[in-house]
Amino acid sequence: MAKVISLSIVLASLVLSFSAYAQTNDTSLANISQSDLEAGQGRYRVLCARCHGMLGEGGEGPSLKRARLIHAPNDEALFSVISNGIPGTGMPANWALGPSDLVQIAGYVKSLGQLEAEEIPGDAIRGRLVYETKGNCSACHIVSGIGRGVGPELTEVGMRRNIAYLRESVTNPSADQPRVSDRRKGTLNSFLTVRAVSEYGVYEGMRINEDEFSVQMRDIAGDIYSFEKSKLISYEKNFGHSLMPGYGVTLSEVEIDDLVSYLMNLKGEN
Ligand code: HEC
Ligand code: HEC
Repeated sequence: MAKVISLSIVLASLVLSFSAYAQTNDTSLANISQSDLEAGQGRYRVLCARCHGMLGEGGEGPSLKRARLIHAPNDEALFSVISNGIPGTGMPANWALGPSDLVQIAGYVKSLGQLEAEEIPGDAIRGRLVYETKGNCSACHIVSGIGRGVGPELTEVGMRRNIAYLRESVTNPSADQPRVSDRRKGTLNSFLTVRAVSEYGVYEGMRINEDEFSVQMRDIAGDIYSFEKSKLISYEKNFGHSLMPGYGVTLSEVEIDDLVSYLMNLKGEN
């Protein structure tokens, strides 16, 4: 409870200091000065570029070279996304930023939106076919309610990731596993592969939860197991080893382009 209260005090004071700032300064991002934009670019490179790319092209986070941002349709929403993050996703909060930092960074992000977006390779309609047939991706992924949720849901994946990241996910899944930021624990690998050996056998799966005494995992058949650590013969975390097969060999270059194009088009609408 104490935590919740202190959090809302922080939030309230942030809003207050922001409106105080707004009264004495022009916060309109439309006529932001060149020097503010440059300062914003500097902060962006430190705080944001590792996920959204040096030039806003995206990566672990979505490309910001888009005129319309889903979570940030207006300036207020953009300030809020930068400051509070997007809870439950890989977009972290930046509580420590003051109002002038927010204006500079948001101004720079908006300027990225005026750059030309990357062209998507391949054919999304053919890509859907690859997804459904040869790739058999729905054995492990859900799109709009269809499929099995062994891996992360892909219904909105085109909003979260960029082209290069999705290509890498399909051809070399172990390279960059998805993470979710958690206010207490920092950024976690949400699909960490773990392996437990008990007297009954060897179990490999994705970690769901772990504490000092126990661990819960889900294997690729979807079955959930819970172990008491003290009863295990061995237990190891396999960082950077995905349970998803790589498709670099089984699919052709063209099929992968088509698949990436299909994934980029998944934005949560049907
Ligand atoms: C650890 C990686 C990471 C960092 C660092 C990060 N972001 Fe993000 N960001 C993401 C991810 C992932 C999403 C997509 C969340 C979702 O919708 O699932 C996102 C979403 C966003 C969105 C919403 C895009 C939309 O289409 O609605 C904006 C705007 C944004 N980030 C701006 C920033 C800015 C500005 C910074 C630096 C202050 C930053 N991000 C730092 C990972 C990151
Ligand atoms: C045997 C189960 C399995 C199959 C089959 C599978 N995946 Fe995955 N996929 C996973 C798991 C588990 C993860 C999360 C861990 C990781 O990224 O390695 C994942 C992650 C992903 C991601 C990253 C999502 C993100 O938000 O970062 C994408 C994209 C993806 N898969 C696409 C596909 C496509 C396209 C196919 C079919 C060609 C496919 N997967 C087939 C299990 C599978």
